[in-house]
Amino acid sequence: MSTYVTHRRIIGAHKPPRASNTWTEKILSLLLVAALICLGVACVIALLQVLQPSDSATTLPVRLDPKASQQKTESAAAADTRVDPAAASSTSSAVMESAARAGAVTALDSEPSAEELARYRKAARVLDPEVMQHVPDTFDSGVKNPCWTNSSGAFRCLPYFYVTGMFHAGATSISEKLRLHPDVLTDACTGCQFWGEEGKPMSFYLEHMREAPNAIKQAPATKVLMDSSASTFAFYWAAGGKAHRGYAEAMRPCYQSCVEGFNVHKVPVADCMTAKCFNASLTADVKRATEAGVDWDTEAHNPLLVRAVYGDRPPKMILVARDPIARLYSAYHGYPHYHGKYGKSSSGFTAYVAEQVGALRTCEADFGAARCALYFEALSHREEMVYFHADQLMRGMYALFLEIWYRFIPASNWLIIHSDDLFSQPRETLARVVTFLNITRPDDATLDRMAAAGQMKSFTAGQEPVEPRARQLLAELYAPYNSKLAKLTGDARFEKWNEQPVQ
Ligand SMILES: *[C@@H]1O[C@H](CO)[C@@H](O)[C@H](O)[C@H]1NC(C)=O
Ligand SMILES: *[C@@H]1O[C@H](CO)[C@@H](O)[C@H](O)[C@H]1NC(C)=O
Ligand SMILES: *[C@@H]1O[C@H](CO)[C@@H](O)[C@H](O)[C@H]1NC(C)=O
Repeated sequence: MSTYVTHRRIIGAHKPPRASNTWTEKILSLLLVAALICLGVACVIALLQVLQPSDSATTLPVRLDPKASQQKTESAAAADTRVDPAAASSTSSAVMESAARAGAVTALDSEPSAEELARYRKAARVLDPEVMQHVPDTFDSGVKNPCWTNSSGAFRCLPYFYVTGMFHAGATSISEKLRLHPDVLTDACTGCQFWGEEGKPMSFYLEHMREAPNAIKQAPATKVLMDSSASTFAFYWAAGGKAHRGYAEAMRPCYQSCVEGFNVHKVPVADCMTAKCFNASLTADVKRATEAGVDWDTEAHNPLLVRAVYGDRPPKMILVARDPIARLYSAYHGYPHYHGKYGKSSSGFTAYVAEQVGALRTCEADFGAARCALYFEALSHREEMVYFHADQLMRGMYALFLEIWYRFIPASNWLIIHSDDLFSQPRETLARVVTFLNITRPDDATLDRMAAAGQMKSFTAGQEPVEPRARQLLAELYAPYNSKLAKLTGDARFEKWNEQPVQ
């Protein structure tokens, strides 16, 4: 489970050691500290692999003021005449309020100008220099897939399209189907979660995409390379590290000094980090975005990096979106650590949801909804200590991420598939995907084989239905994002997700 690994690597090292009394406890405590240091070292090594030395040594104070930014967003929303209050047909007034706020659709379906592209590329070189270092200014024009010849004379390629997500929604199913298309190539890193996982630099990605370029060279007009890594879409904190090196670079030495402080003065690591590290790391991240010439809240994210890498040849993007409540219930039963902790039952799910949504609401009161969804465990120790960092909740907030994606890769380069279509009409849905990807129309026999491939597994078969309390908490949480997804995509069926069954 990729997120598990990511969380362990980035966040696991921050667990505070506890005070001890007896000798046994002292020894255990020492072991804990040793383990903590080992984790810290592993964390540092992982970070060192991906971090580039910063060439800026200035210490301009940048104040992080979440409230001000939130107000900016709210007034922008209020000023947006495209907000349709009737669309916020939710039950409680709190939901309507946040629906109106989230309903401000600012993304446009237009290609960025050459100046904008140049700005993104310049920014990406500051945010993640390594990712830009290995890609060319332009791709070979005679090749359908974005490819180039590198300075050592090797022919290299980036994916032509991405199945960007979502887990427990049908992403795996659709990529299993697409694998059977004669034009579609896969390679060692097709599923390696390059954009969504730490510790994988661009050099690694390209090195693990060495077979596909040979096949593309043989058939440059037709063959295309697929990336199907379901962590690409939702760039919440654990999956968004590539755009937040500034945070990691500040957090690493601060965390180390807190561990040393604990060994010497017995100041708990958590207290030390609360006093010193979180605000400083966030401030450093904001400063990095400012140096890059981009807005921290709306621009300094993975979509900017993806677009910068591709320049004027944006990739085609596919998202399979499923009712976020059904998606979460499947994830809960699919990953043993969730139901292992809260109980493999519908009431266990309710306990999990109550805790997670509660933690998110607490966070929102201090930092605002968007920041809590995007940066949750990076904001403070309180959030960091929430079990699994509420990330499964964020994955269903499709519109939060899609709006930012659209800013860099316009809507015409996206196909948002309603998972019901994939499950109930796989053949017709595949035909749409083929048209969208502009790949060869397969013959009937191939289409049948593709339609039959990648059958969905059900993790919730035989389980009780979601309890009303969990359903209500989640419906309130997801309503504004569902409404916004309907607006962004023009598909009113996403609004139907707000009509949850009353039990
Ligand atoms: C070019 O690609 C080859 C083959 O993947 C690789 O070994 C080499 O390091 C690359 N050269 C540069 C300059 O990136
Ligand atoms: C850090 O941020 C938190 C939450 O916004 C705030 O309560 C605290 O005062 C800040 N600390 C400093 C030193 O700025
Ligand atoms: C579709 O692909 C063909 C080559 O396979 C290319 O010539 C054509 O321009 C593409 N169409 C679009 C709209 O990109």
